[in-house]
Parts: sequence; C-alpha cells; structure tokens
Amino acid sequence: MEKVKLETNILKREIVNIFKKFGLSSNHASISANALINAELVGAYGHGLSRLKMYCDRIKKKVINPKPKIKIKKISQSISHIYANNSIGFVAADIAIKTAIKNAKKTGIGMVAVKNSGHYGLSGYYAEQAVKKNLVTMIYTNAPPAVAPHGALKSLFGTNPICFGTPTGSKIPFILDTSISMINRGKIRVAARNNQKIPEGVALDKFGRPTTDAKKALKGVQLPIAGFRGSGLAWMVDILSGVLTGGNHAGRVKDPFDDFSGPQNIGHLFITFKTNLFVKNYNTRIKDNIKKIKKLPRVKGIKEIMYPGQNKYKRLKTNSKKKIKILTSTKKDLEILKN
Ligand SMILES: NC(=O)c1ccc[n+]([C@@H]2O[C@H](COP(=O)([O-])OP(=O)(O)OC[C@H]3O[C@@H](n4cnc5c(N)ncnc54)[C@H](O)[C@@H]3O)[C@@H](O)[C@H]2O)c1
Repeated sequence: MEKVKLETNILKREIVNIFKKFGLSSNHASISANALINAELVGAYGHGLSRLKMYCDRIKKKVINPKPKIKIKKISQSISHIYANNSIGFVAADIAIKTAIKNAKKTGIGMVAVKNSGHYGLSGYYAEQAVKKNLVTMIYTNAPPAVAPHGALKSLFGTNPICFGTPTGSKIPFILDTSISMINRGKIRVAARNNQKIPEGVALDKFGRPTTDAKKALKGVQLPIAGFRGSGLAWMVDILSGVLTGGNHAGRVKDPFDDFSGPQNIGHLFITFKTNLFVKNYNTRIKDNIKKIKKLPRVKGIKEIMYPGQNKYKRLKTNSKKKIKILTSTKKDLEILKN
C-alpha cells in the first residue's frame, strides 16, 4: 500500500486542529491526536489515522459528543463508574485509566467501568500507562458485530480485544493485546479501501464461503481465533465490558463507519493492581519467568523468542526516530478534513 512521509509534530498539529474544528476542546483534541499517532507509530494503521474521517463524520452527525459532560461516580476507594456522555472513546479511556491508576496506587487495586463511550483505539496504549506506574492491568472493550458466536449464522460479537499488561523489570513492558478474531477489523477496512486482498482463513462472505476479498469480508463474518474458544472469549469480553458496565452488548454496539443512527454506547473495563499484593519480589520473579522462556531452544528461522508487546515497543522506538509514514488514502482524508 502506498505511503507518504510526514514530520510527526506537524502531523499532530494538523490532527489537533481538525478535531478542534469539529468542536473538541484543545485538551480532548490533543488526547485524541496522541492516541492516533501512537497507533501509527506502533504499526497499527487500521486503528490510527485511517479512522480520523470516521470520528469527524460521527461528530458532524451528532453521534459523538464533542463537548461531553463526563461524570465519575466513586463507588469505593478502589472502584469508579464513568458515564462518558458519548465522548470520543479516547477521552473516556484516558480518564478511566488515570482513575484506575489512582485507585490502585491508593488501595492496591483499581477497577473502573465506563459506559456511553465510543471506539478508543488500542487497548495496549492505555495498558502502557498503568505498566509505566508499575501496575499490572487488564483491559476490555466491546466493539460492533463482526464475529459469529460459535454455531450461529450471524455475526454479533465484536473483535473484542483482550489486553493484559505487566511490568517486566526491564524497560520493555509485557503487553498482550489481541483481538479475538483472526485479524482485526481495521486491517480489513484499510484493505477494502485500498483494494487489497486479505489473508486466507480469516473471514467468510455473506453466503458463508471463505473469502480473501476485503469488501465481501466486511459484509460477511470474521472468524474467531481458535474456533469456539475464541467465540467464548469474545462473549466474556462482551459481558465484562458491556453487560457489567451498563454499555451496549449482545450485538447492539453500532458500527462506527456505517451506522449513524445513534451513539455507540460502548463499554470498557479497566482493572489495575499492584505487583506486590501477594509476593514482595515480583520483579525478580517476572524477570526469572521471562529469562527462562527466552532461553528455550528456538524453531528454525526464529531469531528471538519475544514476549507480547516487544514487537510493538521495537516498532515504536524505530518509528519515533523517523518521519511518520501514513497511507496515501489517509493523507487524502487529512487534506479534505483540514479545509
Ligand atoms: N477498540 C476496539 O474496538 C478494538 C477492536 C479490536 C482490536 N483493537 C486493537 O487493535 C490492536 C491490534 O490487534 P491485533 O489483534 O491485530 O493484534 P496483533 O495481532 O498485532 O498482536 C496481538 C498480540 O500478539 C503479540 N505479538 C505479535 N507478534 C508476536 C511475536 N512474534 N511474538 C510474541 N508476541 C507477538 C503482540 O505484541 C500483541 O500483544 C490492539 O491494540 C487492539 O486493542 C481494538
């Protein structure tokens, strides 16, 4: 796919200005721009600027509230419930992770549920913030229908990512952040827009036939990881982030690109806790754990056994030193949105 190179600072300024033009405050515009740029830098282009136009369209159609009145209800010293008032998801998630960190620092564990939110991008972006404060974290969000429950003919679950992060005793955090689908939906959307094929074995068309055509895949169903196990994990995430929080669930989250009939009312759940709740030497133990695994004999062609998050950290470090590369199709959106 064709890409163009831009200075990161200039790009950030442009995104902030676009969000401000669409009614976001400077602070909310900056929070949102940072999250989008981070997605580009870690190589998650399907969750980065390829979605900028979608967020702006949703603000224009009044299904994202650019000036939300976000309420934080304190349930206990550890537990908070956030009503996001249909804010852009980045802003609700930013407040939620900061609240979860504060609660955990005070009491050992922080648990924050969010309702009436929107698509917040990468779970790992928020997990990193907790891990930097030396906390373990688990983060869940639901998403619009893309995956059929095992045995069903219709998609209902989102690609509902599961995220777990922990400090490692080194500067690279362990962050397992994975969709429960074979590939994330953002990648399929970008492939559809740029007339690219998707890999085999990740989606079926609307007649239930395997397809590598991205447009047909968007109209059909995405396949979960590991068959009924993936479908079960998607269901778990729907319960934790939808049923539990007061957010939409059971297939009611609207597709942000195609359905402007109302806000998404996505739910998120952020859990954070201290590493020393049960042992005093967590750092030593996790270092030992990782060292042992990394020393295993390797399969041919594998240079290093990596833990989850290592690949994205390396990409972030390398890409941060260079000009940022964005898809030509995304650059076109930027030009239209700017003017
Ligand atoms: N907000 C939403 O609705 C939504 C929905 C789906 C996905 N997402 C986000 O999209 C992002 C991408 O999801 P994805 O499923 O494409 O993730 P992915 O396939 O890129 O990575 C999944 C996990 O595998 C790890 N990994 C990758 N290569 C590895 C290797 N060689 N060795 C060890 N570990 C390795 C990664 O670090 C990551 O933790 C995630 O950040 C997710 O939160 C968001």
